[in-house]
Amino acid sequence: MNTIRSLARRAALAAAATAAVASAAAVHAQGSTADEIAKYRQMLAEGNPAELWEAAGEELWKKPAGPKNASLEQCDLGKGPGVTKGAYAELPRYFKDAGKVMDLEQRLAYCRMTLQGLTREEATKNPFSSSGKPSEIERLVAYLTGESRGVKMNVQLGHPEEKRTYALGEKMFFYRGGAYDFACATCHAVDGQRIRLQDLPNLLTDKGAQAAYTTWPAYRVSQGEVRTMQHRLYDCLRQQRFPEPAYGSDVITALTMFLAKNANGGTYDGPAMKR
Ligand code: HEC
Repeated sequence: MNTIRSLARRAALAAAATAAVASAAAVHAQGSTADEIAKYRQMLAEGNPAELWEAAGEELWKKPAGPKNASLEQCDLGKGPGVTKGAYAELPRYFKDAGKVMDLEQRLAYCRMTLQGLTREEATKNPFSSSGKPSEIERLVAYLTGESRGVKMNVQLGHPEEKRTYALGEKMFFYRGGAYDFACATCHAVDGQRIRLQDLPNLLTDKGAQAAYTTWPAYRVSQGEVRTMQHRLYDCLRQQRFPEPAYGSDVITALTMFLAKNANGGTYDGPAMKR
């Protein structure tokens, strides 16, 4: 990871990004949001503030904590205890010890409970930061996903539970409901669709799924926070007017399985940066 000096530079860039958002709002009438996004993406290409989250997450990963005063370094993310490199690119997957398919965030909670002795409530507390309340989970996830940067997505459906989870995710993707009778597919199964000024990826194509999946978590310039895939899906379900899913629920893992498998072959490139 980086030196303090380069982290300080990243912090300055993050502040610049916030200023850019403000000015982007001011010139909204002149340029499209997409142009503005392209501008600050370019400005920050050399230093994504998400690196601050990654560095903090690495520290949390290695720091003894919880009633057992243990670090998370022996957590098995699917490639063996202690292997973080490339693990995220193969998740979700079936875990024999837990007897179920887990996404990264479920697995992280599992390790915090089993290795550190936290209760489920403690291990899943504060998954999405709000101002003045930073989230350890977002930081840990930023670190662990960053450990797969440059690795090709390779999610397998070898185990019957993996197949079942994928099928459930697929069903969920097409399941219509809520006040508007929307499914994920209403917004994400057509090429070139837009809502307000945002392009909606077609998540059923290789290209669309890869571009979307390989860039989460992301530093949200508009929020000044790193947001995880759990948060992305939570936010889309909210837009869909579905009931709020419980954090780390199996239905989110199923949707994640569907998206991740569809992104196979794409090179993982997160944590990225988004509007
Ligand atoms: C009402 C329309 C709508 C529905 C329904 C919807 N989404 Fe979205 N989704 C959006 C919008 C808008 C964005 C982009 C938001 C932004 O740029 O801030 C988005 C972004 C995403 C992204 C990130 C794409 C990227 O390139 O960063 C994923 C993944 C995603 N949605 C998945 C889903 C899933 C899975 C469902 C069903 C549970 C769903 N969405 C339902 C509107 C929708």
